[in-house]
Amino acid sequence: MAGGSYEALHARSLSERDGFWAERATAIDWTRRWDKVCDDTRAPFYRWFSGGELNTCFNAVDRHVEAGHGDRIALIYDSPVTGGTIRRLSYRDLRDAVARFAGALAARGVGRGDRVIVYMPMVPEAAIAMLACARLGAVHSVVFGGFAAHELAVRIDDCTPKAIVSASCGIETNRIVAYKPLLDAAIDQARHKPAACIVLQRPEHICDLVPGRDVGWDEAVATAAEVACVPVAATDPLYILYTSGTTGQPKGVVRDNGGHAVALKSSMSVLYDMKPGEVFWAASDVGWVVGHSYIVYGPLLHGCTTLLYEGKPVGTPDAGAFWRVIAQHKVKALFTAPTAFRAIKREDPEGKLVGAYDMRSFKALFLAGERCDPDTLRWAERILGVPVVDHWWQTETGHAIAGNPLGIESFPVKPGSATKPMPGWDVQALGADGHPVPAGQIGAICCRLPLPPGSFPTLWNAEARFFKAYLEEYPGWYKTGDAGMVDADGYVHIMTRVDDVINVAGHRLSTGQMEEVLSSHPAVAECAVVGVADALKGQVPLGFMVLKTGVVASDAEVVAEVVRMVRDTIGPVAFFKQALVVKRLPKTRSGKILRGTMQKIADCEPWKLPATIDDPAILDEIAHALVTMGYAKTSSRIEAG
Ligand code: COA
Ligand code: AMP
Repeated sequence: MAGGSYEALHARSLSERDGFWAERATAIDWTRRWDKVCDDTRAPFYRWFSGGELNTCFNAVDRHVEAGHGDRIALIYDSPVTGGTIRRLSYRDLRDAVARFAGALAARGVGRGDRVIVYMPMVPEAAIAMLACARLGAVHSVVFGGFAAHELAVRIDDCTPKAIVSASCGIETNRIVAYKPLLDAAIDQARHKPAACIVLQRPEHICDLVPGRDVGWDEAVATAAEVACVPVAATDPLYILYTSGTTGQPKGVVRDNGGHAVALKSSMSVLYDMKPGEVFWAASDVGWVVGHSYIVYGPLLHGCTTLLYEGKPVGTPDAGAFWRVIAQHKVKALFTAPTAFRAIKREDPEGKLVGAYDMRSFKALFLAGERCDPDTLRWAERILGVPVVDHWWQTETGHAIAGNPLGIESFPVKPGSATKPMPGWDVQALGADGHPVPAGQIGAICCRLPLPPGSFPTLWNAEARFFKAYLEEYPGWYKTGDAGMVDADGYVHIMTRVDDVINVAGHRLSTGQMEEVLSSHPAVAECAVVGVADALKGQVPLGFMVLKTGVVASDAEVVAEVVRMVRDTIGPVAFFKQALVVKRLPKTRSGKILRGTMQKIADCEPWKLPATIDDPAILDEIAHALVTMGYAKTSSRIEAG
């Protein structure tokens, strides 16, 4: 990374956009140079490095071996949940494993452009499967293990994979999660049937295989030939990652090959201040975008050692787990969600366990995935004594929109802010008229088009939805779905979502999707789900239901049933544990449910009786019920005026 101040670098990334990114692109190996850096021939649909060809797996793995770094450790697997397993794969080991697994996929007919679903726990084979797809030019779609069979089925039907790679089980602290029954149920439910499933048998739980369709990982690899990297177009999809939208149909965020490789490699030095050979740890899951970008692709493209951790911040075995991993593997930078730090703080409020470990390698903590509360930020700074960087991004963007660029210039921290826009990002708060509001005023946070390389070019098979959801409302801008402000110092402050997306333990979920599940219960006439504040998880969902007349089941029975239905349909990760049966839902006279007011009541925030409410008594009744449940306070209602 060339030195120089942030201001100059950021300004140049916007004013000399193509020159700036062409320069960054020289850090990647191309089999064919691009014709156009930013292809705007179909604006507002942009493509990066069109005409260029490369292979992402080559850049992430083989290239380092060819450059003489084959013995360098590429991946460390640390798994407290399997009795403390530690595996180290050198870049050469990784290349061999990926080339062989790519051969296993190819033997099952997977080739360039074919989709492969990866439904796996946090084991090295998950990263190997992703890289093997990249090697073949196939498109992976990783599905997080905490999703239920139905969610997997929806994704199978949307991306129609030729093959699925899975495992016999995951391990959640002390609980074995059998993946195979979920996989089988999903394939049963889906209209599309994959031709083959490759299943990693873990010794903790061996599963049955379906003859003719399933094959064990070891068996598939044993007979496979190593396969070379297949050059693909820079604009070809590398992966699809589904994320919550406003309905039960998740959005398939598409990532390309060229822009992604360029942007991620660049971010490793600009933002994370990492050098090849250093150890980077993203304590997330390969099923989330953080896992894609910073467990697998970013660190490997940069020649770092990445750490894949199968454990939790607490309970595996205690709140010192993160410090043990940092000390044992000489981690330089850790990236996780604030919720993980809230979990640690709750168990070890003084941060005493840090003192037991040699943390000299550790230089910075990066937090993202949800708003970072100032208490947690300050606590982390105090107990760790290193810079703590709150940075903001989304599945859609693939890398940070705003952060503190430690590799160039470190800015003073303002708790509650993600600091400054990263290179390539022109971030503004827009008013209802579509123009930027003055500094310090709240608006819809939008980013001027074109978005920089690495951000999503489209949604899988849904370009019209892509346009409608993100580009239509503010022509010339990308609507992030977040509201906030840019202050007079140019710091970006993200306050809240403007849609019905909530953030539970750093996991992005749709309340609309949960409402669809509740509505499908035969006793439920109407319902609403809101995200209420939670000291550990940031937010948790809370349901409100009106039952049909004549329902014989008790309220408690219906609540228990919808809780189970959400777990079975969406998955345990939704963390839907509570619902309230009410006589009516509060609505405006035009019929709009007052979700925001219910959320304020539950969060003990001051709330006013909206002038347009059709039945004023209902909000007081709900407030009363929520007080009984331990959510609201009696005194938070304020008089209108
Ligand atoms: N497979 C199956 N089930 C899973 C799962 C997986 N991969 N991941 C989570 N679950 C289950 C959990 O076991 C839990 O089930 P339960 O309701 O039966 O207890 C449920 O889904 C909710 O999970 P979670 O919200 O993660 O709660 P938790 O109590 O297990 O852990 C934290 C809480 C804060 C420790 C954990 O969420 C965490 O470490 N988060 C920070 C890192 C992170 O994931 N960031 C994401 C983006 S950076
Ligand atoms: P995801 O797509 O799962 O990464 O979730 C993206 C959403 O999480 C964003 O749109 C924000 O609402 C929220 N988010 C992520 N990082 C931050 C952050 N640093 N500060 C505030 N909100 C954040």
